[in-house]
Amino acid sequence: MIYQTGYLRMCGIFGIITNQDIPIGQIALEGIKRLEYRGYDSCGIVAQYDSQLFIKKDAGKIDEINERLKLFDFPLESKLALAHTRWATHGPPTKVNSHPHLDCSRKIAVIHNGILENFLELKEQLELEGHKFLSDTDTEVIPHLIERYIRQGIDFTQAVIKAINKCVGAYGVVICHADHPDMIIAVRKESPLVIGIEEGKTTYCASDIPAFLPYTRMCYILEDNEMAILKAGSVKFLNITNPDEPLEKELNKIEWSIDAAEKGGYKHFMLKEIYEEPLALRQTMKIPRSKLQTFAKILWSAKNIYITAAGTSFYASLAGKHIVTKFLGKYIHAIECSEFQIELGDALQEDSVIICVSQSGETIDLIEAVRWAKEKLKKKITLLCITNVVGSSLTRYSDETIVTQAGPEIGVAATKTYCTQVLTLALIALEIARYRKVLNEQEINNYYEALKSTPDIIEDYLKNKVSNIKDIVNNLDKSSNFFYLARGISIATAKEGGLKLKEVACRFIEGYSAAHAKHGPISLVREGFPIIFIAPPDETYQRLVGNVMEFKARGGKIISVVVDSDKIITNLSDRTIRIPQPANKYYNIISPITFIPALQLLSYYAALKNNLDPDQPRNLAKTVTVH
Ligand code: AGP
Repeated sequence: MIYQTGYLRMCGIFGIITNQDIPIGQIALEGIKRLEYRGYDSCGIVAQYDSQLFIKKDAGKIDEINERLKLFDFPLESKLALAHTRWATHGPPTKVNSHPHLDCSRKIAVIHNGILENFLELKEQLELEGHKFLSDTDTEVIPHLIERYIRQGIDFTQAVIKAINKCVGAYGVVICHADHPDMIIAVRKESPLVIGIEEGKTTYCASDIPAFLPYTRMCYILEDNEMAILKAGSVKFLNITNPDEPLEKELNKIEWSIDAAEKGGYKHFMLKEIYEEPLALRQTMKIPRSKLQTFAKILWSAKNIYITAAGTSFYASLAGKHIVTKFLGKYIHAIECSEFQIELGDALQEDSVIICVSQSGETIDLIEAVRWAKEKLKKKITLLCITNVVGSSLTRYSDETIVTQAGPEIGVAATKTYCTQVLTLALIALEIARYRKVLNEQEINNYYEALKSTPDIIEDYLKNKVSNIKDIVNNLDKSSNFFYLARGISIATAKEGGLKLKEVACRFIEGYSAAHAKHGPISLVREGFPIIFIAPPDETYQRLVGNVMEFKARGGKIISVVVDSDKIITNLSDRTIRIPQPANKYYNIISPITFIPALQLLSYYAALKNNLDPDQPRNLAKTVTVH
C-alpha cells in the first residue's frame, strides 16, 4: 500500500561527532536554531554517552522547549549528538511524534526529513514481527527496520543500507547507535543533506550549510542514494545502490559568511532581507554574460516556451515573462508548477523549453513537473533553471542553470530572491534583444543602465522614503480585506504584494487586474474600502487612471504606488508611496523590482501591528517539499 499525504513536510536535521571536549548539546541546539525556518512545531536532541542514548524532545518552538528541558545540557564526555526541528505531517506535533525516534532496544536513534510513502506497509510487517511503535510518524519504521537486520546478525552499516533500501519515498536520514559511539550514518534521497568537516576533529551533517557554518566552511553535498559515514573529523561515502564501490566526492569551500545567514542586528530576517535587496541585486548584475547568452540563444531557437514556478517565484516569473516576451517576440506560457502536468498533458511537445524558477530549487511540485516533462519527452526537451541554491535538486534535472545571487534567504517570506529572479529574467531579455537585433546598442544600453540602477533606487527608497509606510499600515487596520490592483506587468507586483500581506500579516487581500476587477470584485467596494494601485507611468497608465476614478467614485480609499514625478494618480489618491525613479520607458520595465520593497515593508509592519512573527508565518514553512 502506498501512503499519500496531503500535508507539508519540512524539517531541519543536524548531526555532530567529535573527538574534542566541546559542548555538543549547545552546538546541536544552535544548529537546529539556524534551521528553524524549515519547520518549527517540535524539536529534539539525542546524545550518546555511557553506552546509552539520552533524548530530550517535545512539541513547541525550540526556545520554549530549551527553557523547559535545557536541550543544550549534555555532559562533555558525550561526543555524538543528533538534533531535529520538525514540521508535522504524520501525526500532530506532540512529544511522541517529535524526532529523534528509537527502536525497541532504545539503541538506534533516527532523525528524518522527507516522506516514506510505504511506511504503513512496513509498519504492519514490523508489528507482526513484534516491534512496538510509539508514534504516528512514518520515520519510526526506520530504527525498527535497522533493528530487525541487526537482530539477524547483520552489522550496523549493512543493516542501515538494507533498511533504507526497503524505504520508498524521500528522505534525508541521520542515524546513530548506542554501541557505535564512533559513527553517525547519513543517507539522502530527494531531501537535502550536507556534510561539514573540521579535519581530524569534528564532522557535521545538516539539511543546510548555515547550521554548521560557524565551525567550518568545508563541506560535501550529498546526492541522491548517497550515504556518508561520519567519524570524528573524517567522512567516508558510498552509494547505497552499489555499496561495495568506494565513492570519492568533491570538497567545497563556502565563501559566504555566517553573518549572511543570521539577523545581523535586524529584528527579523524578513526586514534584514528586504534591506539586503540592493546588495543582492548588485551581485545578480554580475551573473556571467555567457550564461545569459546561453539562455537567450536557447529561448530564441525554441518552438514552445513555458515558465513554471510556485508562489513568489511564480509571480517573479509573470513579471519576467512580460519583459522577455517584449524582446523575444514569442509567447511564453506561464503555468503554476502544481498544474503543469495536468494542464499540458499530451500537448507538451518535443523541442519545448521550460524555464523553472525557484528560490530553494527543492519545491516538490516543481521537481515533479520537471521530472514528468523529462520522462515524457526523454532528451527532446530543454530545462532552464533559475534558482538561488547551488546544487539543489532542480539544478540536477536542468540542462542549464543560472544561480541568482541573493545569498541565503532565511525569512519564510521570499523578499530579496523575488527581486533577483525578476532581474535575472530581465538580463536574459536584454541578451535576447541584442541577439535578435530588435534594439540598437544605445537602447540596449539605456535598458541596461535602468537595470543597473535598481539597487540605487531601492537603497534611496529604503534610506529616505519609508517613513509613511507605518502610518499607512496604522490607517489600514480597521479594514480586514482590500485589493491591490494594477495593469500589465504590474499585475505581477500586485499579486506578489498581496501574497506577502496574506502570508505574514494574515490579512485577506487580493492582487488583481484593475481592468478585471470591474467584472465582479468591484461590488465589494464601499466607503473607506482600501485599494492599493500599482501605477508606474507605462503604457497602461492612462487606463489605470480610469480604474482609479471608478473605484474612487464608489467610496474607495486610494493608496497608490507611483514614481516621484507622478501627478495625475497622485491627485486622485488619499495616500501615495513614492518610488524615486525616472519616468520613462527604460525604467518602466524595472518597476516590478523597484516597487516591490515598499509592499514587502507594508506587509512586514502589518504583521508587527497584528502581533505576528513575520519570520514564522502560521501554517507555512520556507520550502514546500511535499504536495
Ligand atoms: C513566498 O513568500 C512563499 N514562502 C512561497 O510562496 C514560495 O515562494 C514558494 O513556496 C516557492 O518556493 P521556491 O521559490 O523555493 O520554489
